[in-house]
Amino acid sequence: MAKHSDVAILILAAGKGTRLKSSLAKVLHAAGGRPLVEHVVRASVALHPKKTIVVVGHQAEKVHAIVEPFGAETVLQQPQNGTGHALLVSKRAIGNAKFVVVLPGDAPLVRTETLRALVEKHKRGQATATILTAVLADPSGYGRILRKGGDTVAAIIEESQLTPEQRELNEINSSIYCFTTAKLWPALAEVKPNNKHREIYLTDSIAVLNSKGEVVLAEVAADSREMLGCNTRADLAGVDRMFREWKREELMRDGVTIQLPETVLIDPEVVIGEDTVIEPCVQLLGKTKIGARCVVKTGCVVHDSVLGDGVTLEPHCVIAASRIDAAVIAGPFARMRPDSHVKQGAKIGNFVELKKSTVGEGSKVPHLSYIGDAKIGTKSNIGAGTITCNYDGFHKHPTTIGNRVFIGSDSALVAPVRVGDGAYVAAGSTITENVPADALGVARGRQVNKKGWASKKRRELAAAEKPKGKKKRQ
Ligand code: UD1
Ligand code: MG
Repeated sequence: MAKHSDVAILILAAGKGTRLKSSLAKVLHAAGGRPLVEHVVRASVALHPKKTIVVVGHQAEKVHAIVEPFGAETVLQQPQNGTGHALLVSKRAIGNAKFVVVLPGDAPLVRTETLRALVEKHKRGQATATILTAVLADPSGYGRILRKGGDTVAAIIEESQLTPEQRELNEINSSIYCFTTAKLWPALAEVKPNNKHREIYLTDSIAVLNSKGEVVLAEVAADSREMLGCNTRADLAGVDRMFREWKREELMRDGVTIQLPETVLIDPEVVIGEDTVIEPCVQLLGKTKIGARCVVKTGCVVHDSVLGDGVTLEPHCVIAASRIDAAVIAGPFARMRPDSHVKQGAKIGNFVELKKSTVGEGSKVPHLSYIGDAKIGTKSNIGAGTITCNYDGFHKHPTTIGNRVFIGSDSALVAPVRVGDGAYVAAGSTITENVPADALGVARGRQVNKKGWASKKRRELAAAEKPKGKKKRQ
């Protein structure tokens, strides 16, 4: 892939984002499963520029922490006196790069290929500035492109400064530009903060360049959706929808069936194997990896988990940071909390909660159980309502259940405790001591049947009722 070693990329990410009405800086808001600025940095570094610089201001440290792992450096803009001012404070960092590509940190849908096309057009056209634009049905909220004729631009007019006739202009400034740096600096020095906010607008440098006879080109983006910026919560939702749609389309191309796709939310790093079926209203989040031929039924939420091949998740399972091996069936309404591992062919039934527990191959926990800090061997059966009592109010303790164990329903296993291979626990037991292999553990009061007790009781009650009844009639 061609490197652009004469290009510095500058991402503007210092603003607060007043229109979002948020305590979180705008570029930290997420869409498509990532902070806005992370999308922009990823698209930028893939161009292999000389360097990527991010202008930071509001919540600078948080923004820095997101972009630094991608090899971007940051420049502090304090206070934030406008997009033009953001360039001026970055002059040193841009250094001797021949070209600078400027991107706003709040337009996260842009793709690397689009940036590459911009730079190539700029170089080919020997321009001083090249602006990426889009033609929108509703251009409100954006600066508008005032064309001179053909490919060239006379000025960018910010929305607040549009004349009534200019309101008809529907070609917008995406805020993504390529500049020839040597020509940009003198033009920017002439820009005055002649606007309501007393800011230095980068957009005003275009008219200055034009008046100096420099070539300013506009490149209409092939896909106008890539240019969408996020100034409001509604914009964020619109951009999020685009990312989700693109991700689902990619998975469907790779052989995944997604029913009612518009209801399914999948994060960017999720991987899914062929012939897996995702039912409506499912969320697959974080670094989740799903094998081939799985079925994830409606209402499941899976976070940072790995599913083997042929797994069935019945409706409404909630799974976090866990491993589910091949051919497991779980749910409906199963919950797996972090560090759970369900091995091949095991079954986890309805209303079962696992926490930091391993369920061995072919074992079953079919109904209404809490299994925490436990290790269950292979081919064991855990009866309905079994609870591992792992917490004594101070510490957590482990429960170990061997292979081919049978735990009767409604048992409480008070940890730390072990049940050996092949052992039985009688239903309703409260097990406080280890059960040896092949033994039966019974820990409950013996049953006593009192003959005729119930009918005698009923007679006594009826006799006691009579006088009361008479009283009422008086
Ligand atoms: C800007 C453009 C507008 C364009 C639109 C596209 C200007 C004056 N206007 O408007 O023509 O149609 O983007 O989305 O440039 N920022 C800084 N420092 C500052 C001010 C802003 O880093 O001092 C950053 C913001 O964090 C943001 C980006 O620059 O990421 C754009 O700023 P924003 O306030 O969103 O500009 P728009 O009003 O959207
Ligand atoms: Mg904006």
